[in-house]
Amino acid sequence: MMAGLKIAPSILSADFAKLGAEVRAIDAAGCDYVHIDVMDGHFVPNLTFGPPVIKCIRPHTDKIFDVHLMIKPAQPFLQDYADAGADIITVHAESDIHLDRSLQFIRSLGKKAGVSLNPATPVNAVEYVLDKVDLILVMSVNPGFGGQSFIPAQLDKIRHLREMIGDRPIDLQVDGGVNRDTVREVVDAGANVLVAGSAVFNGGDYVTSIAELRQAAQG
Ligand code: DX5
Ligand code: ZN
Repeated sequence: MMAGLKIAPSILSADFAKLGAEVRAIDAAGCDYVHIDVMDGHFVPNLTFGPPVIKCIRPHTDKIFDVHLMIKPAQPFLQDYADAGADIITVHAESDIHLDRSLQFIRSLGKKAGVSLNPATPVNAVEYVLDKVDLILVMSVNPGFGGQSFIPAQLDKIRHLREMIGDRPIDLQVDGGVNRDTVREVVDAGANVLVAGSAVFNGGDYVTSIAELRQAAQG
């Protein structure tokens, strides 16, 4: 699945009162993925939405739905997210006791499987499941909220993971505090999928904010 640079606006920072229109707007503005943050108020200290909302926004775009599950457990709900229209389903390394089984299950549903690592989670959490993942998500903030500051220590983790991935077809995604000022370092460290919530949605003009992010990423 590894390819060129991809921009994945996080709809966590969108206006939830007009989510369909927001999704159409980032599609028209040139996003690659739609990053969808699912939070359960238990794994993370915030609550967003679940499969019914994802199902409602699915007809508004053909772009890839990149569903980031910040829920624990995740395994019992994977089928629901697949049915709602997810293309990539990412679980956290800590979400299920049997991460390997969750990843196999996501792939058995015909979806791409991702693993997310919290800032304090070591890279070896994915070392023995590399053959079962299509995407590794490095959290560069503690998950739960948009608009937090990028944690610089994660750059080293990104470099380490890029080395570990080698020539495997695995996307390396970074999520949290990615903006015009931080994006270059993130890409230099080896990331190729960039999640951006506030950097895309807070400016108002999505065409400009996505283009500026892409430009800053490419240097
Ligand atoms: C945080 C979410 C992120 C968040 C990023 O838990 O996973 O996707 O929306 O927001 P920014 O880009 O504002 O840090
Ligand atoms: Zn996210």
